Amino acid sequence: MNGSAPDTGNKHKVLFVCLGNICRSPAAQGIFQAITDRDGASEFFHVDSAGTYSGHQGQLPDRRMRNAAQMRGYSLTHRARPVGMTDFLDFDVIVAMDDSNYGDLMHLAPSVEASRKIVRMADYLTTHSISYIPDPYYMGADGFELVLDLLEEACSNLYASLKDF
Ligand code: 4NP
Repeated sequence: MNGSAPDTGNKHKVLFVCLGNICRSPAAQGIFQAITDRDGASEFFHVDSAGTYSGHQGQLPDRRMRNAAQMRGYSLTHRARPVGMTDFLDFDVIVAMDDSNYGDLMHLAPSVEASRKIVRMADYLTTHSISYIPDPYYMGADGFELVLDLLEEACSNLYASLKDF
């Protein structure tokens, strides 16, 4: 037994994944966590995020994303970490932000069963017709607002799809 591992026994375990784990996926994590908190359901979920690229490991989310998220009431305090093999065992749903993340995750997945856990965040969009969550890193402030708009809608629909199971 690992005494420090979180007890996630009966919880839905959701991992959000982007490239750097400093913009999109920590924002998705914060938004999804806020939705479960608001609905009094946070005890039923274990939510985390990770990146396919490890270069930002240990960093807080990008300041531009933290500021834009804070304006909407989300406090982003995650520290970036790379996706690891144990994530495919530890999580039930692994949510890719774009096709590149999706492909990288499919490549990393150690089994067919693990690959079935990987979904696309944009598949949970209902009013926006875009097939991926764009990388805002080289975009202006509008890019961060667009990403937050997309993540709020997708996280809400993802939560609705999981909460009764
Ligand atoms: P993210 O954004 O994948 O949404 O965290 C990026 C952050 C950093 C880099 C690229 C995308 N980068 O190249 O350093």
